[in-house]
Amino acid sequence: MEKTVKVVLGADHGGYHLKNALLDYLLRLGYDVMDVGAYNDESSDYPDYARLVAEKIISGEAKRGILICGSGVGSSIAANKFKGIRAAVCHDTYSARQGVEDDDMNVLCLGARVIGEALARDIVKAFLCASFKDKDRYKRRLKKILEFEEQWMKRS
Ligand code: RB5
Repeated sequence: MEKTVKVVLGADHGGYHLKNALLDYLLRLGYDVMDVGAYNDESSDYPDYARLVAEKIISGEAKRGILICGSGVGSSIAANKFKGIRAAVCHDTYSARQGVEDDDMNVLCLGARVIGEALARDIVKAFLCASFKDKDRYKRRLKKILEFEEQWMKRS
């Protein structure tokens, strides 16, 4: 992925230290990164950061998001409530790359209590270097997911 494409990073208290480490890493690699907090490791709520990250992507201010909490699970559940967000927990580089190539994942969720910093760096790099593959079957599947969002909006 082009390094000029903006990346937004967010974390609750559980992910605060890993977020800061990844922020330094991405800045060193030359990425344009936005940090939406948390700005300290006091207890906070992961849905608040999921929302901030989702809003930056939906508004177009960022192209990809990274959310970190203790497990990555809460963040992914919260982020997927926002229309246009495709978030998943990936604790291996294969899923982080393939999730973008096949599924157009735009938010990577990490569990700071599950993986270490070195693996997190590799996963983030795999996520950011991948692009959605322009294949009919991937586009067909994505279209079905986008239709779910539309159908759900009409029901509520
Ligand atoms: C916070 O203690 C923890 O529940 C949160 O960071 C996350 O793991 C939720 O999925």
